[in-house]
Order: sequence, then structure tokens, then C-alpha cells
Amino acid sequence: MDWNYLQPVEIFFGNGRIERIGELAEKLGCKKGLLVSDPFFAGNGLTDRIVKGSKGALQGVFSNVSSNPDVTEVDECARVLREGGYDFVAALGGGSAMDCAKAASMTAMTEHSIRKYHGTGESVPAEHLPLIAVPTTAGTGSEVTCVSVLTDHANGKKTPIVSYSFYPAYALIDPQLTYSMPPAVTAGTGIDVLAHALEGYWSKGHQPVCDACALHAMKLVFRYLYKAYQEPENAEAREKMAEASVIAGLAFTLPKTTASHACSFPLTNIYHIPHGEACGLTLDYFLRLNAEAEKDGRLVTLAGELGFGSVEEMACEIHDMKEKMGLKNDLKVLELTDEEIDDLVRISRHPNLYNNPVEITDDILREMYESMR
Ligand SMILES: NC(=O)c1ccc[n+]([C@@H]2O[C@H](COP(=O)([O-])OP(=O)(O)OC[C@H]3O[C@@H](n4cnc5c(N)ncnc54)[C@H](O)[C@@H]3O)[C@@H](O)[C@H]2O)c1
Ligand SMILES: [Zn+2]
Repeated sequence: MDWNYLQPVEIFFGNGRIERIGELAEKLGCKKGLLVSDPFFAGNGLTDRIVKGSKGALQGVFSNVSSNPDVTEVDECARVLREGGYDFVAALGGGSAMDCAKAASMTAMTEHSIRKYHGTGESVPAEHLPLIAVPTTAGTGSEVTCVSVLTDHANGKKTPIVSYSFYPAYALIDPQLTYSMPPAVTAGTGIDVLAHALEGYWSKGHQPVCDACALHAMKLVFRYLYKAYQEPENAEAREKMAEASVIAGLAFTLPKTTASHACSFPLTNIYHIPHGEACGLTLDYFLRLNAEAEKDGRLVTLAGELGFGSVEEMACEIHDMKEKMGLKNDLKVLELTDEEIDDLVRISRHPNLYNNPVEITDDILREMYESMR
């Protein structure tokens, strides 16, 4: 088996490390940074505190990033960066703030709208402002990935853009920033961690370094996610979920995600199911399906290494974990019509679907969605 591994992001991990953001800017040789965040952190005063504590390195805040950020927010953030003469960007938030900041850091160096690169296959320019990514969910792993997931609400399109230029310079992971996540956000983003690790592991592009990261991240999710959900201030559970999140990011950024992420895009776009919850919805279904078809026994081995007696036992645990945390295991509340199921099948045919180890036909998708209504 031939494989390559590359990870260009320098990672800083530990409680309280957000206070050292000024030092990181200095290390970058940058002098004027924009902090990109979302309205929650502008509202609770954290963005102001971080700017104040940055020793003058951060000089402005852009906090208009919404969940599943829109391409127009990226363009607006890029305009602020250009007009303000900023020389670096710091992103504080979940995947939404980090992905908006990644795309804006590149867009600011062009005269174009991000729409030029969103789902068009147009290659992304290499030039960009350096980025320090600070996650507040555990989470997307976006702080170490070369992916920016954006939505064009006006054109009904949610899709990732992948580019080497989206790798942050530094990932600063401070588990204490995740304590304020409400239980529903902890649950959804935590299941996203599991989806990244599991999909990276079974992806057609899997390779040994990412497999090792995936296994480690999955062990932590099975051990600590429910604890973090029940006890938001449990330092050990929060720290271990933050660790799982960044390591799951390493597990999927090269192999890429597969069927569960492909199906999540219409579920989020049309039915507004949060990203992690939408990915988790189909995870146990695809685990059973992929395991049934595999010839090399990788998933049977994985289930054993995670301490399960069988793949079926692992799939049931994923289902039960979602149930206990109030995440969706079906789509009954949506009362889907036949036409709506047709749309879900059609729009799930996203490039990530072709990265699944088993070919996913329209019939498989239809049967799956019908079993959930
Ligand atoms: N770039 C990648 O590699 C990658 C990977 C997976 C998902 N994504 C994308 O990331 C986005 C989802 O990101 P997310 O799941 O981290 O959620 P998010 O960034 O959309 O945040 C969800 C909500 O949680 C709130 N929140 C975040 N951290 C909080 C905290 N510590 N305390 C209180 N509230 C907090 C936010 O304000 C927001 O209201 C989606 O667009 C998804 O497609 C990107
Ligand atoms: Zn995800």
C-alpha cells in the first residue's frame, strides 16, 4: 500500500492558552489582526477580552458569522480585511467562524467573490493571510484541516472547498473555551467528531497515520462524550473531547469524509438540522452497510479494538448514545413526502459519497431515508 502524510499546522493545546494569542501573532511576525467570531462570543464579551489580552496584536472584530456561514459573509469579512489593512486573521468559534475566516483570508488577497471558487472546481489561489484558528466546539477539527465548508443560501448550495491555502498557521486549542457549549451543541458537535474519525477510517483514501488518529479519537468519544454532555464543567471530559476533536481532524483531512457527510448537506440545508446531528443521523446505518460489504475485515477489527464484541454492538452504541443525548435517530417529525425523499436522494449525491468504501446507489439512499420516516 502506498501512502503520503502531511500536516502543516502547528498545534498548541492546553487550558488557558488563549491568553497567549499575542505571542503567536508575534511568532508570525504580524502586527494587525482581525478576530473573526460569531454573535455569541461578541455578546458574552469574550471577543473583547481576547482583543484586550492580545498585547495590541488584534485590532478589530468581525462577529457576523452565522452557523453554516454564507458566501456573502465571507465576502464581507474579506472586504473588512482588505479595507482595514489587516495582516493576519484569528478565528474564534466553531467550524462556522473558522471556515469563514479561512475562506476570507484567501479572498481578501483577490478581487473576487468566494463564489468564484465555491462548488465550481476553479482552483483556489495559494496567497492568503496567515490564520490562527481557535476552536470553541469539539468539534469540526477545522483548526487543522484544509477544508472550508460554505453555504450559498441564495442558490441552495452547501459544499466544502478544499485548498492547501486553507491550512491555518497555528491551531490554538484551549479546552476551557468549550465549557460554555450548551448540551445540545456538545452532543451534536461531539457526534461530528465520531463521524470524522469513523469516515476517515473507512474512507477509500484511508492510510496508517490517519487510521491511528481515528482509533484514538473514537476511543475518547466513546469514553468522554456523554460525560461532557452531562457535566459541562467536567475538566477531564472537556479536555479529552477537545483532544478527540483535533485528532479526528487529523484523521479525516487527508482521507476525506464519506457518505454520512454527503447526506448531511441536504439535511442541514433544507431541514436545518445542525451539522453534527445531521452527520450522526446516518452513521450507524452506514457502519452496518460498509461492514457487511467489506472483504478485508477492517471494521470488524476496529470494533474489537474499541472494545465492542461486534460491529453490530458498536452500531447499537452509536444509536444509543444519540438517543440518550436527544439527537435524531430518524426523520419522523419531518413527515417527509415521496417528493421530498426524491430530493434528499438526489442532493445527497455529493462528491463525498464517492469516497465511501461501498458504492452508494440511489436505491440504497431511498431505502435508508424511507426507513427513517
Ligand atoms: N472545515 C472543516 O474541516 C469542517 C468539518 C466539519 C464541519 N464543518 C462545518 O462547520 C460548521 C459547523 O461547526 P460547529 O459544529 O462547530 O458549530 P458552529 O460553529 O456552527 O456553532 C454552532 C452554535 O454553537 C455556538 N457555540 C460554539 N461554541 C460555543 C461555546 N463554546 N459556547 C456556547 N456556544 C457555542 C455558536 O455560537 C453557534 O450558535 C458547519 O458549517 C460544518 O459544515 C467544517
Ligand atoms: Zn463534520
